[in-house]
Amino acid sequence: MINIWTEKYRPTKLSGVIGESDNINRLDSFVKEKNIPHLIFAGPPGTGKTSTAIALAIELFGESWKDNFLELNASNERGIDIIRENIKNFAKIKPSNDIGFKIIFLDEADHLTGDAQAALRRTMEMYYNTTRFIFSCNYSSKIIPPIQSRCVVLRFSPVNEDEMKAKLRAISKKEGFEIDDESLNAIYEISEGDMRKAINVLQAIKTSGKIDPLTIYRIAGEINKNEYKNLINIALEGNFNQARDLLDKMLIDYGLSGIDIIKGMHSSIRKEQIAYKQKLEIIMALAEAEFRIVEGGTDNIQMDALIAKLSYIGSEIN
Ligand SMILES: Nc1ncnc2c1ncn2[C@@H]1O[C@H](COP(=O)(O)OP(=O)(O)OP(=O)(O)O)[C@@H](O)[C@H]1O
Ligand SMILES: [Mg+2]
Repeated sequence: MINIWTEKYRPTKLSGVIGESDNINRLDSFVKEKNIPHLIFAGPPGTGKTSTAIALAIELFGESWKDNFLELNASNERGIDIIRENIKNFAKIKPSNDIGFKIIFLDEADHLTGDAQAALRRTMEMYYNTTRFIFSCNYSSKIIPPIQSRCVVLRFSPVNEDEMKAKLRAISKKEGFEIDDESLNAIYEISEGDMRKAINVLQAIKTSGKIDPLTIYRIAGEINKNEYKNLINIALEGNFNQARDLLDKMLIDYGLSGIDIIKGMHSSIRKEQIAYKQKLEIIMALAEAEFRIVEGGTDNIQMDALIAKLSYIGSEIN
């Protein structure tokens, strides 16, 4: 069986969840009291919501946690009726623990419609004696107010750079290989604070046997964001041939499409501090190239034309 590192290194204790000390302190105090309120875990993907729920169940229920914890995915279970049926079947069996309740973890709760959530609210009340709910979602604002007001909301944030890198280093040590700082920077940049993504990239490059930033970007199907900035700057300076070489590298080595590159340039240019008029012209040029490619223009020709246009814009203003 393939050994998946995100599962292998999933924390089994609340203290193993990184970067969420406020949330963990709150949950620790619930564990001490042997009681929890209904909870909403809100935050971006891969930041520890499911892991925290599982660790909480392990700390509350010990070895029998699996009998006392039901994980449902709101977007998989095809309809609120099936979800309620599952909940009913689980909730009506007496908790096999001395705490007196079980936990239902409802993943992607923000995918439920308002009506479905309203139906769930009645279910929550019906089984309050024996069950607590943990709703996991990206945005707590998508949970209807009557459910929100019955829950304590804990917010999860993207994992910060230092803590993510320390964790990645610890994993690579356990797996018996070294990873340099540049490679860690690349993984952090690609992950955008998503620990699952970071660990998956780490495992993929270990498997590939070559650990350096270029391989990392290539494997992740992404590109160092500085490259977009470089491409724009080189083109604006009028170095058409050099820009063309960089473009080829992106198209061929990284396997990006013209549209990918235009999107990358677009998000890069919006953040750049450059002359206002130049910025407007560049954005218009990007939009035009995008449109032409979508309408069936050839990547190569349109991207060449885009670079030419940027060189022209650069020469006009400089
Ligand atoms: N805060 C964290 N501390 C330690 N490991 C983490 C953390 N967040 C994520 N991970 C790692 O990433 C994997 C995925 O995390 P988890 O399933 O908890 O994310 P999630 O927030 O539930 O994401 P999603 O919104 O996609 O369901 C875990 O198995 C674990 O290895
Ligand atoms: Mg999850």
